Amino acid sequence: MLPEPVLRAAQAAIWDLDGSGIGILEHSHRGPEFGRVLERTERLVREVGGVGDEFAVLFVTAGATPHFAMVPQNFLRRGETADYCHTGVWSGKAMEEARRIGDVHVACSGAPAFTTTPTHATWSAAPRYCHYTSNETIYGTQWPSPPAGAPAPLVCDASSDIFSRPLPLDNLGLLYAGAQKNLGPSGISLVIVRRSFLDTARAAAAELSPLARYATYADEQSMHNTPNTFGVFVIGEVLAWIRDQGGLAQLEAHNRRKAAVLYDFLDASAVWRGHAAPGSRSMMNVTFRGATPELEGKLLARARAAGMSGLAGHRSVGGMRASIYNAFPEEGVRALVQLLDEVEREG
Ligand SMILES: Cc1ncc(COP(=O)(O)O)c(C=O)c1O
Repeated sequence: MLPEPVLRAAQAAIWDLDGSGIGILEHSHRGPEFGRVLERTERLVREVGGVGDEFAVLFVTAGATPHFAMVPQNFLRRGETADYCHTGVWSGKAMEEARRIGDVHVACSGAPAFTTTPTHATWSAAPRYCHYTSNETIYGTQWPSPPAGAPAPLVCDASSDIFSRPLPLDNLGLLYAGAQKNLGPSGISLVIVRRSFLDTARAAAAELSPLARYATYADEQSMHNTPNTFGVFVIGEVLAWIRDQGGLAQLEAHNRRKAAVLYDFLDASAVWRGHAAPGSRSMMNVTFRGATPELEGKLLARARAAGMSGLAGHRSVGGMRASIYNAFPEEGVRALVQLLDEVEREG
């Protein structure tokens, strides 16, 4: 879900951007109107996220998956090692891409059950970077805080929990996030990269084509080619909404309360069982199973009939997944709990 004020603002801007008489989908990306949109969105990323000038803020026309390859292409050379925390499907895919370029050391792993984010990592001697996925969308686990003791800058895939809580900027080299969960439309990603870390990539990345280099986006303000102008606009509106909610600490407290409504119910239930272990539970994706396949089938049918969509778990793991991103209201969680309770009582 996106916040209603954001959708209304996007609707209005399709007709008329800031009183210009021309819509956001029609303006040239080189004109002053879009220039102001880009400038405002970057300013809001910095203001809401507390992102200082030591970081560059980039808007990359791609989802999160291309970064699985782009990160090692830019920062890793053959013979060098990158450390990865393996906590589920998405970090697994990121590791696969890194292996095409250099050596991957698995510093910690939640395999095979992926119910936890590990509390201890064994880092390699001199990795180029240490990669983790802050929220594993499919298993419903979330790092309570970034992995500790990393001997190199952290690289974080924050696609499914970006701006749900204060950004993990300490020891951060680079963060990437596909926009389509908490930020806006698909097809655009936000990247926050420490300039000193980016400088360490310039030599290795020199052989890459310009759009494969993070430095190109940093040097040309994400305007080497036509950016996803509508996506940049919507991200700006979402950030203004977060600012108006009181900022990230407020939003985190709200997200915590909201997720606890569902986790508390699951913990007390005789037939529904949460997947993620306490301490690793996601505030964004609550994954759970029913006691029998019949019960799960009944719940999904009843949920569909009640107008609740997207409750089936990811096709790779089954079960149920309630995605309760930033804009999802607490009353929606309460409605789901009520339905779970009804189905439980009916047996
Ligand atoms: C944590 C995480 N990383 C990466 C991706 C892949 O994103 P995209 O489909 O934008 O490539 C997803 C998608 O759900 C995700 O949740």
